[in-house]
Formats: sequence, C-alpha cells, structure tokens
Amino acid sequence: MKVLIVGSGGREHAIAWSVAKSPKVDKIYCAPGNAGISEYAECVDISAMEFEKLADFAEQHKVDLTIIGMDDPLVGGIVDVFEERGLKVFGPRKNAAILEGSKAFSKDLMKKYNIPTAAYENFDNAEEALAYLRTQAGFPIVLKADGLALGKGVLICNTLEEAEAGVQQIMEDKKFGSAGNTMVVEEFMTGREVSVLSFVDGKTIKTMTSAQDHKRAQDGDQGLNTGGMGTFSPSPFYTKEVDEFCRKYIYQPTVDAMAEEGRPFKGIIFFGLMLTEDGPKVLEYNARFGDPEAQVVLPRMKNDIVEVMEACVDGTLDQIDLQFEENAAVCVVLASEGYPVQYEKGIPIYGLENFKDKEGFYCFHAGTKLQDNQIVTNGGRVLGVTAKGADLKEARKNAYEAVKWIDFSNKYMRHDIGKAIDEVE
Ligand code: AMP
Ligand code: GLY
Repeated sequence: MKVLIVGSGGREHAIAWSVAKSPKVDKIYCAPGNAGISEYAECVDISAMEFEKLADFAEQHKVDLTIIGMDDPLVGGIVDVFEERGLKVFGPRKNAAILEGSKAFSKDLMKKYNIPTAAYENFDNAEEALAYLRTQAGFPIVLKADGLALGKGVLICNTLEEAEAGVQQIMEDKKFGSAGNTMVVEEFMTGREVSVLSFVDGKTIKTMTSAQDHKRAQDGDQGLNTGGMGTFSPSPFYTKEVDEFCRKYIYQPTVDAMAEEGRPFKGIIFFGLMLTEDGPKVLEYNARFGDPEAQVVLPRMKNDIVEVMEACVDGTLDQIDLQFEENAAVCVVLASEGYPVQYEKGIPIYGLENFKDKEGFYCFHAGTKLQDNQIVTNGGRVLGVTAKGADLKEARKNAYEAVKWIDFSNKYMRHDIGKAIDEVE
C-alpha cells in the first residue's frame, strides 16, 4: 500500500512511525511533514489546507489511504474533497468534524443527548453575554471561543471584570478571529484531566489506552496554555469504574448521537475528560489524535494502525481487537525558550543520533527542518522525547534521562511531566 499522511507535527511523526511498522505498507508520503518524518516518509511540499492539490497528488501517486492528522483540514472539509474524488481517506467529514470545530455545537449535542458536561450558555452577541455574566454569582467562570483557536481560545476568568475583558477579547477584538463569532460561557469544573482517544467507524467505538497532558508552559502548571508540554500513559486516575461510566454515558452515546444527527463520525474522537466529584464530564471533543497524546499512546499500541484505520473507513471496526502493551510511556516536549509567545528558530539540534536503535526510546519531531544538511529548530514545540518503562515511574525516569541526549541552545522543557504519578503510591 501507499499511504499519505497530512500534517507536520509530533503527532504526525508518531502516526508515520506507526504506519511504517505496518507490513501492508511499502511507501509513505507526508504533506508537508518535517525533518524527523522524512526518515520514514517522502515529504511533499503541499500545505495541509490545499485540499485539491493533495487530492491531485493522491490520485497521481495512486495513494491507497490518506490519513489526516490535523484539525484544520478536517474541520475545513478535506475528507469530503477526497471522498468526492473516490479517494480512500481516514478522518471525519466536515459535518462530523464540527464536533471539534464548534464548541457551541458540541455543547448543544451533549445537552440534547444527556452526555455529562459542564453547564453552559451559548452567545453570538457580546451584549447578551455580558448581561448574562452580570447575573452570575459563581466565579471562576470559563469563556470559550466557539471555533478552532490553536488551543488558546479558552479563558478562565476569576472575577466579573476578567470575564468582561474576556468577552471584549473574544467577541469584540476578535483575538481568535472568526472563532469568536460565537462564544460559550461555561461552569468552571475542578478535577483531574484525562485524555481518551478512540477509533470510530460511524457506529462502533474502540477506545485506546488513557493519557494525561500538561497544557501549561511552566512547572507546577504555571504560565500560559500551550499545545501541550508533555504526556503520560496510562493515567492511573482513569480507573476501571471511570472507564465503565464513560463507556455507558459518554463514548457510545456520543457516537450514537452523531449518527442520529445525520453526521456519522468516522476517524478519531478524542475525549477531553475531567474527573469531577460528580463523576467524569466532557471538557471538549477533538476530531483527531492529541498532540502529544499520540506520542505516548501509539508506541504502546499492539495493532497494525493501518488495519484499524481501514476498518474505520470500511465500517468493520467491530471485528478489531484493539490491544495495548501492559507498560507505560512518558513524553517530555523539548520546546524553544519563550514558547508559546516568542522564540527564535533555525537553531542547530545535536544528539538526535542517540535515539538510533534504542528500544523503547523515541524522538518525535514537532518543529524541525533540514537546513544545509543540519537539522534545526523550526517551531515552538521542537521535539517530543518519549520513553517506555515497565510502569509510569520507570517511563518517567527513562524519558528524563533521554532528554539529556539532545541539545540545542534555547532548549526548554518542564521538569514535572508525570509528577502526579507520585500521588498514587
Ligand atoms: P479545552 O480546549 O476545552 O480543552 O480547554 C483547554 C483547557 O482549559 C482544558 O484542558 C482545561 O484545563 C481548561 N478548561 C476548559 N474548560 C474548563 C472548565 N469548564 N472548567 C475548568 N477548566 C476548564
Ligand atoms: N494535547 C491536546 C490536544 O492535542 O488538543
């Protein structure tokens, strides 16, 4: 088979690595890819948003399966373009990717189908949002831009003044562009966060092993929100009881609700959950693998990813027995100092060769490129260093050993990825 992967981050590197293990595959392309991905794939200089060009490429090169890694093309309808041209593609259509593309849509869906989530109201008018906020006694309160905002469209406001400023930013100043035309005001929840990724074929859902992300830039969950500074898998807080609850009240009900709405979902549903005192609730849905969740989940998956993805496309996921290793993995993101605000790029990276032939250690490239035969930094998140271990403690020890193998002058990381593990002795 020939496979085309669309995207260029650490997630797509983890997908490419996984696809490369499939005995069914003899050629991988990635558009646009990055320096790490080029180890397994021929990188193609087409951007993820050039749908027709990508479809032309898939046609011309007789690609058997295209895998969409990123949210923007999915929400923009890339799958519809491929399907209209008779090309096999893994990911939800536009009318299903809206599960991630519109928070107002996903909140209304959850309300309609009694799927547990935070209480909320949707607004498409700043005046009404402000009037509503002035009647609210409970702070903090959460404001969310409806559309895609690179994970930055969520504001947690501690006072009415902060909330008023938030409405101004989202709805008036359009800090997140048209993503802020509609806004969700949501009850603030507390609890442990867990990410559960799943394969879905329109009717059947198979969940993957759990993971936990660390979204804030600095140690101790301080600083700004980022795309994610590190992950571990599995989450020890995701117990059998939690899993049973979520299967019954969240996972299958979400898939059934989408089918019922005439928006059958095929692809990945990523459930962002909060384990509150009142039970697990949905924080958000994503329509693709998490980044850097994929970097800890995929190395632990035993199945042939291509076989599972084909089953999703063909509607035969019920025949797949999804299996994960009985171990753990930790991913520490190496970022550029200053991320997520301002940072230098083009800095030489040393030590990548240390990962060669090291069983259970992976260096997934997020923002890198090849420049004059030297791999240099090319983004805020640069690399995701993943290590496996018999348990979470060992995996964390291994990951923090492996980050020492890499050097670039503005290397920045969190030192407490997976620290929560210590709480569950
Ligand atoms: P989201 O993009 O919806 O996942 O939100 C980003 C982050 O904001 C989440 O990972 C949470 O840490 C936080 N967050 C979102 N919604 C809420 C909420 N209702 N209560 C508390 N924290 C939230
Ligand atoms: N790591 C969170 C996300 O991919 O949205």
